[in-house]
Amino acid sequence: MNLYKHVSEAINDKLGFAAKLEVPRNRDFGDFSTNAAMVMAKSAGKNPRELATEIASKLAELPFVSDTSIAGPGFINIKIKDEFIWNAAENAAQVEPSSKPQTIDLDYGAYNVAKSLHIGHLRTSIVGDTFNRIAKLLGHRTYSWNHMGDWGKPMALIIAWIERMHPELPYFRDDFDPKTPVDFEIDPAELNTYYPAASKYAKENPEFQSHAQEIKARFQDGHTGYFALYEKFLAISLDMMRDTVNRLNILPFDYDLGERNAAKYLPAVEEILRKQNLIQESDGAQIIVVRKDSDNAPMPPYMWTDSRGADTYDSTDLAAVYCRKLTDNPDKIIYFTDMRQSLHFEQLFRAADISGIFDYANFEHIGYGTINGADGRPFKTRDGNAAGLDDIIDAVNAAVAARVRDAEKSLDQATVDMIALAALKFNDLLHDVRSDYVFDPTAVTSFEGRTGPYILYTAVRLNSVLKRAPDAGTAQMSILSPDERNLLIGILDFERTVHSAFENRATDMVANYAYDLCQLINTFYHNCPILRDDVSPQDRAQRLYIARAARDTLARAIDLMGLRIPEEM
Ligand code: ARG
Repeated sequence: MNLYKHVSEAINDKLGFAAKLEVPRNRDFGDFSTNAAMVMAKSAGKNPRELATEIASKLAELPFVSDTSIAGPGFINIKIKDEFIWNAAENAAQVEPSSKPQTIDLDYGAYNVAKSLHIGHLRTSIVGDTFNRIAKLLGHRTYSWNHMGDWGKPMALIIAWIERMHPELPYFRDDFDPKTPVDFEIDPAELNTYYPAASKYAKENPEFQSHAQEIKARFQDGHTGYFALYEKFLAISLDMMRDTVNRLNILPFDYDLGERNAAKYLPAVEEILRKQNLIQESDGAQIIVVRKDSDNAPMPPYMWTDSRGADTYDSTDLAAVYCRKLTDNPDKIIYFTDMRQSLHFEQLFRAADISGIFDYANFEHIGYGTINGADGRPFKTRDGNAAGLDDIIDAVNAAVAARVRDAEKSLDQATVDMIALAALKFNDLLHDVRSDYVFDPTAVTSFEGRTGPYILYTAVRLNSVLKRAPDAGTAQMSILSPDERNLLIGILDFERTVHSAFENRATDMVANYAYDLCQLINTFYHNCPILRDDVSPQDRAQRLYIARAARDTLARAIDLMGLRIPEEM
């Protein structure tokens, strides 16, 4: 239950105006406070303390309020009845769906065919997935789109590279018959080396470069041989992407459809654009002007085709919007990419808006910051190369394994993997998506502090107590100790957190909530023994009830972050 909302609405009803509720850090004087008396005093023609006394006595009449008091120049403190908190915790982890469910297309992941995933794909995957889970929990209809880079120059470079190694293959003939059986297999381990090798080679060999450009144009025109070869490496690449999705424990995408799929819609979109005279010629390229008179910053035109007539990242992105409109008819489309693509998205949103394809106001771009190393520069592997996603996961796994060894624990590989994943994802989610952060594989695996392992450890410990506990029957509340009370109130803040995380597009709220909840759980655990022999049956039943509510809530938060709780740690 959303305690804050419940209390806030009841107070507003009672007073007949909206009083802003605060949650004080220190709960000694109240669970909530409001400065309503100070805000209203002037218009009411009263002094603030006097008005506070009046308001406080009204609030004291509310059925869930146990006590009110006045502090300072007119702050009102409100304390909630233990009884009420206790009963509310019964369905602690339940979240009421949004009153305005929306259909939302989420564009994240967006991996590239035959290019290894790099560190930049980490945040889009983790943040996009958690946002998706939050939206679903709140009853929104979401569709996740893996808008793959599967249509551009890299495809042509890879085809050209394979041609260079195996010119005898029939794929490169213009009369290639797609039914021809070809005895040729691509080694998956090698595939990811083709693009970097080919693009390096192209830089040094203009001939190869222009040949690749030709291939791109013919490929996009449907050259049968190039296509057959492309289908081969696409399949391998898709398998690799799915591996990553599994490894990161993110939900499977609703659509693995990217630029190539979008390209099918280019003619329809072009017709819409031409009808409105929105396409102009400029130095051989076809462009859409998206500048407005009010712009202060440079706003280059949106490229419909490049000077060679090829489809572009821009054109396929606009076509993808059109496709989504036909497929899901979403209320909103939200993109999760590196902040450095902000200009591209601003242009896209304008192009879609002026052509009437999709309203500017219903687009959002969540641009994230960079993951840096200790030196404050983009994180690199030890040998100085740009880190691949697998390098990162491996580094974190090794750091967890080392810790487990040092602590002389023996944990199986599956458990080590779960801890490493939690370390990596939690650390990512913890930071405001818009800011850069420093990634230190050792620090994120600590079992203490704001880390994934600390969160899992708390959950494992609760699970183990609950598993060992005798059936205590239905618990009745007697007196709540401050630690029990604080924990219950923390639990009752979960629902509000999820709603705010959604509204503010701030997945870090869930991560920080999970940490705060774990702090409350561990204080409770420390001060309120449950299974010890000298604990009375009443206290034990009461504490088990609280522990269960805490566990259910924490497990929900952990699930939203796409982490898995191991059996032991
Ligand atoms: N594939 C691109 C990359 O790896 C990201 C695509 C993001 N989505 C989009 N609709 N443009 O950088």
